Amino acid sequence: MKNYAIGVFDSGMGGLTAVKELNTILPNEDIIYFGDTARVPYGSRSRETVLRYAQQDVEFLKKHKIKMIIAACGTVSSVVGTGSLAPDMPFTGVIHPAVQAACATTQNGKIGIIGTPATIKSGYYEKAIKAINPQMQVVGNACPLFVHLVENGYIQRDNKITILAAKEYLEPIMKENVDTLILGCTHYPVIKDIIADIVGTDVKLISSGAEAAKFAYNCLIEKDLLSDRKEKGKNTFFVSDSVSLFEENAGNFLGHPVNGEVFSCSLGD
Ligand code: DGL
Repeated sequence: MKNYAIGVFDSGMGGLTAVKELNTILPNEDIIYFGDTARVPYGSRSRETVLRYAQQDVEFLKKHKIKMIIAACGTVSSVVGTGSLAPDMPFTGVIHPAVQAACATTQNGKIGIIGTPATIKSGYYEKAIKAINPQMQVVGNACPLFVHLVENGYIQRDNKITILAAKEYLEPIMKENVDTLILGCTHYPVIKDIIADIVGTDVKLISSGAEAAKFAYNCLIEKDLLSDRKEKGKNTFFVSDSVSLFEENAGNFLGHPVNGEVFSCSLGD
């Protein structure tokens, strides 16, 4: 069991920001990643649809030898809340890990959140922050274009379209003088330089995917499930759309070309 893989899924490639962190902090672990690239984005769909897709994603991962599941998707995490999509094994979404990090980081008690329309509409990030500290001030804004821009590679620091969209989305948050900003969708760290240029260096950015990876690390230690493999673990990627499209763009999320085999699979509708 200890040498089973960590299962990670997202609506698309955003969850790779969690894989990147896992590869750094847990280099000996095998990772099985599923990206539902044929149905991305989830963030503009109904709660019921997101939940159905997420259940199918988990079912797919469970066909493999896995010991834990990370829902590396802010949208799925906001629908699942404090529940679990896999009660028979350790499971985490991205919201609680990100919120814990943000509450530990803020100095002035003002936290901003950006995410998909579904995530922001759920109000779940805010609820989770207030559960830790009711005095915190929280301001959120939905960024409906970001997932499309990132999945399609509009990520260069000087990309005029992404800068324009980011200014529009971030302005209402910056008016509230937040000192900590949660990137509540796992796609957003890919454009963190653009976001940082707009919000300034005094605002600390929290990557929800990376925080979920750190949370998983602690969870595996606690459950005595860390791999005892001596050699490096391997990544295996599954996508519901084109393998070559994934291979073309995944490097933007991982910070290097895809390091593992990539397979295409289908989950039904
Ligand atoms: N990476 C997903 C998230 O964190 C993107 C959601 C979507 O598909 O809209 O929310």
